[in-house]
Formats: sequence, structure tokens, C-alpha cells
Amino acid sequence: MSERRYLGTIGAEAVGAELELVGWVHHRRDHGGLTFLDLRDHTGLLQVVFNPTAAPEAHRAAQRCRLEYVVRVQGRLGRRPAGSENRQLATGEVELAATGVTILSAAEPAPFAIGDERPVDEGVRLQYRYLDLRRPRMQRNLRARHRFVQGLRRSADAMGFIEIETPTLVPSTPEGARDFVVPSRLRPGFVWALPQSPQLYKQLCMVGGLDRYFQIARCWRDEDLRADRQFEFTQLDVEMAFVEETDVFAALERLIGDAWAEAFAIPLGAPWPRLTWQAAMERYGSDKPDTRFGNELMTVTEALAGTEVRLFRSALAAGGAIRALRVPGGAQLPRAELEGAWQQVARDAGAAGVVLLPRLADGWQGPIARAMGADELARLAERTATEAGDLLCLVAADERVAGAALGALRLHAARRLGWIPPGRLDFLWITDFPMFERGADGGLQPLHHPFTQVHPDDWPRLESDPLSARSRAYDIVCNGVEIGSGSLRITRPEQQAAIFRVLGLAEDEVEAKFGFLLGAFRHGAPPHGGFAAGIDRLVMLGLGEPSIREVIAFPKTQTGQDPLTGAPTRVTPGQLRDVGLRLAEPPTGPGPATR
Ligand code: AMO
Repeated sequence: MSERRYLGTIGAEAVGAELELVGWVHHRRDHGGLTFLDLRDHTGLLQVVFNPTAAPEAHRAAQRCRLEYVVRVQGRLGRRPAGSENRQLATGEVELAATGVTILSAAEPAPFAIGDERPVDEGVRLQYRYLDLRRPRMQRNLRARHRFVQGLRRSADAMGFIEIETPTLVPSTPEGARDFVVPSRLRPGFVWALPQSPQLYKQLCMVGGLDRYFQIARCWRDEDLRADRQFEFTQLDVEMAFVEETDVFAALERLIGDAWAEAFAIPLGAPWPRLTWQAAMERYGSDKPDTRFGNELMTVTEALAGTEVRLFRSALAAGGAIRALRVPGGAQLPRAELEGAWQQVARDAGAAGVVLLPRLADGWQGPIARAMGADELARLAERTATEAGDLLCLVAADERVAGAALGALRLHAARRLGWIPPGRLDFLWITDFPMFERGADGGLQPLHHPFTQVHPDDWPRLESDPLSARSRAYDIVCNGVEIGSGSLRITRPEQQAAIFRVLGLAEDEVEAKFGFLLGAFRHGAPPHGGFAAGIDRLVMLGLGEPSIREVIAFPKTQTGQDPLTGAPTRVTPGQLRDVGLRLAEPPTGPGPATR
């Protein structure tokens, strides 16, 4: 076959040409003795007409064609008869008068319509993903993703980054999630891990003199799945030697900006605003604030310092704060909704509840407002600029908990009341993260990872007051989604040892886990720093999709299954024997064996 002509590109300039074309049958109709097939490929549709007199054999074959058959047709391109043009279609002026047709592949009836965007149950879409991929949405999304990744590669190359592949069978890396492990056959009882990120290898590249590394890196994390989380995902992973924060910021703004322009034809502009972690927590109650709208949180502890309301008094006595969110126009919301959905949002974010105070023209409403003094209410109104018609949300609790609950309510209110300007993209940097946080077990853990430098001003109190130490870690956030993280790294062995001491890691444990990295740092390590951005999340935002599953060719379901292949599958006794493992419990439930 000569060079393939795509259907959507065939226009009036080709009238008179003899063409051979391929595609899927999108639609078939018999009309006035003629048979019409609309052929489809990813570029569009072309009408093919079969005349029983001019080409009887082709006409008979066309009548055997059903939807989604794959066919090859030959014929001459002509203009459609006057009055039968289709102005909706790019190829609507022309049609192919077929002289022959070959059925290349028959098709069973599809479980859903391919040609339109009508919603289909996601489980069915994923089970028949190969059909779903033919539909306009997935075609558009995966092609945009391709352009985005090509844009990243071109931009990185232009800036002197080189693309390096790092291994996918690795020792466990400390990114904080659970590893996927792969049993070793040659060393029974030992395991590999799939990388949660190429973190340690990219740092080793810096020691290796590869001073501007990048990778479109596959990463694996065994964590609960959500709209923006999959077991497997892809990072734009970057590391640079001899840099400060501003160099990393400039590189990422250009990389993402170039790729965005290429995939979505939108200039992002730069530099992006920067906000410290502290300010983000105070103003938005979140380290990934949605800054597309204002309605920031306020602290009203002082205005209510002498309060008699027991709920407030006990929170203040316990060293907590009273924080507030004003919801303009919110007094009109039904009481049942406020006491139902809104309370639930606050509870889900970890607060015991939220005090909801509607203010109407004739004053504040509700039992708590009645328990408060007139002076107190006046101070509250003044401090929060609450007017008649507004709703004031108050949470009295530990400062972080109050912030988190009101931050969640701020997002809830934004969706409910339409505060989010459509089409807007707000990229920003969050800086000065704390170095450590308390884990669920009460112990300290690094907020980013243990190779992150401590803020120079905070080194002196690292060991005496570790929770107050800031790090040189930074995130990119866009529209309330964490896009990526990075940091400047530690390269001095004594500083790295201090971090491990604070984390309570014994020296032999450190040596066993990270000895290879610390060893490398004793061989001339340049100062370095880097970043990793989630490509799935970036493309999701660029396309305005609600989930990264819409921009991944073969994602897992929310419950971590692959309905197309049935994976994960059972393991055979032979496979277990090979790697020296025995199952403690036989697997329950259905599932095909692998061999
Ligand atoms: P971090 O762990 O913050 O940093 O990951 C960077 C970015 O990767 C994306 N991401 C995910 N995307 C989809 N599904 C997931 N399960 C998932 N987990 C993470 C997010 C996230 O912001 N090595 C460090 C970076 C560095 O310091 O250079 C790292 O991996 O967009």
C-alpha cells in the first residue's frame, strides 16, 4: 500500500483521484438502492458510496459490513451531489465512489457506542479499554499527552539536560509509601523493590558528573488509589548540580511552560508566585492551596478571648485557636444542608465539628450566637467583615486541625457556590516546608525525604527542636493539586548523619540502607538539587479531566484492579517454588492463574 491517507484530511482538492483507504465502519445505511459506509479513523470520517450497478461485487460486500468492521476500500473521489453536502463534517463536500472493498477484520457488536461522548460506566470502559481508546475523548487525551511529553523532551534537550534511564529493580527507596516488591529467584528470600521514584539514582548521576539529568520516569507506589493517584504513574524527574532553588524553579517553569504551550497551546507565563508553607497553612489551611479564588481563612482567637461559650473556652484552654471562614451569601443555604454535608466535611478533615453562624438582616442565627455576647458578636463581625446574608464558619481546635477543617470547607463552599473561575490555571511554588512531621506512630518522619537540606538558619536547633526546623524543599501546586516536589540535597556526610540521628535510625541500619549513597558522597559530590513533577496530573489539568485515569492508556480501577486482563492474578506453585516462597493463606475469590 502506498502512503496512507488519513480520512479526515481528504477534501475537495482530491476530487477525481483514485484512492485506497482504510478505516473502521462508523455507520452504515442503505438508501435509494445505494449503500453508504462512513469510514472512521482518528482524524475524522469519510463517506463511501457503493452503487450496485457500477460495482455490484463491492456493493454486496458492503452490505456484509457491520459497525466497527475494519475495511479497505478503493474508488474515485467525487463531489457529493448538490444539496447532499454535510457542513458539519470536514470531509462533507466529498465522497468516495467505491469500486472495491475488503473486510480486513469483522467485529462483534460493541458494548457501547464508539463514535460519541455519551458517558459509559467506567468499569465497562476499562474492561473494553481497546474500544474505549477508539472514542474521541481518549484519542484526544492520549495524543495531547504525547505532545506534552515530546514538549518536555525538546525543552529539556534545549536546556542541556540529558535523558538517563535508571533501573526499575532497585532496593527500597524512602519516599514514604509502601513498595511493590519483586521476589528474587537467584537469592530466595530476598526481594527487589520497584522504584517509588529514581531519587537515589539521580543523585548518584550528579556524583557521576552527569550534571543535568532528566527522565520520563515510571514510578510505583502501593497506596490507596484516588482520582489523582495510581499504583504506577509517570514523573518528569530532574536533577541539577551546582544550583540553588531559583535555578531549579526557572528550569521547571520553562520545562512545564514549553510542554504546556506545545500540548495545549496556552502560554503559562513565568515566574510563578511563591508562598511559604507557613503562609499557605495560615491563609488556606492547606499546603496545596487552590488560589484561583480568595475567601482566605482568618484567626479570631483574640476577638473571642474572653468568651463564655464552653466549646470555644475549652479549645482555647487546651492551647488551640479559633479560626474562621466567611462564606458570602451563605446564610441562604438550607439549615439541613449545613448541619449535614457541611458538618461532615469538617469531621472528615479531623475536626469534631464546625460552628455555623448565618447572619441575616435581623442578626446572627442559631443557639451558639444566642450564647455569645453582643460585644463578642460585634467584634467577630468586624474582624471577619461578615455582613447580613453571609455565613460564618468557626472551628475551635488545635490550630492545624482548625485550618484543615476550614480549608476543606473553603473548597466545598467554592464548588457549591461557584467561586472557581472557569478556565483559570494558578501555578505557584510552596517553599520553606518543615523538615519533619509526626507520623501516625508518633515518631518523626521527613516531610519530603531524608536527603533534603535543612534551612541554613535552622541547623543549630535541628536536634534540640526538630519540628521547628524548615527544609529547603519546595512544591509546585496548581488549582489545589500537588503537581510535584523537590529539594536541595544534603551532600555532607556529617549533615546526613545528623538527619538520621533525629529520625532515630541506628548507624548499622543507615549503613545497610544507604551506605552506597553515603559512600558516593565521600568521593567528591557536587552540591545538587532537583524536582519531580507528576506528568499524569499535569496532563489531567491541561485537559480539564477529573481523574488521571482519563489520561493513562491502561489505568487500574479505583480498587486497584485491571478489569481488562483480570490482574492481579494468582501465583502458581511453580512460580512460588522458583523464588523460595510459600503462601501463608491461600488466595480467596476468583482470579485466573498466570500460567
Ligand atoms: P514526590 O513523592 O512528592 O517526590 O512525588 C512527586 C510527584 O509525583 C506525583 N505522584 C503521583 N502521581 C500519581 N499517582 C501517585 N500514586 C503519585 N505519587 C506521586 C505527584 C507528586 O507531586 N523523588 C521526589 C522528588 C525529588 O525530590 O526530586 C519525589 O518523588 O505529582
